[in-house]
Amino acid sequence: MACTWAVESVVISHLQAQLIYLKNKNDQVAYKAVESILEDEKNHRDTGFHEGGATNIWYQPLRFSVSLFTESIIRFGMR
Ligand SMILES: [Fe+2]
Repeated sequence: MACTWAVESVVISHLQAQLIYLKNKNDQVAYKAVESILEDEKNHRDTGFHEGGATNIWYQPLRFSVSLFTESIIRFGMR
């Protein structure tokens, strides 16, 4: 669950930034769609957390690597 927690944490940050962008553009349809996705991803992240994905110190390097890789994929995908 460390991977789940790490991926979802990065995705949530990205989606929250998207919500700010969409709010500023006043695109309510897209905003609602992203907001719905955000709720799903928060549930996934919380599952990862409750299964110990965020607290086990031995998984720290894994969480760091997965977070970095996920951030890279998102930034590459936004090009
Ligand atoms: Fe997810």
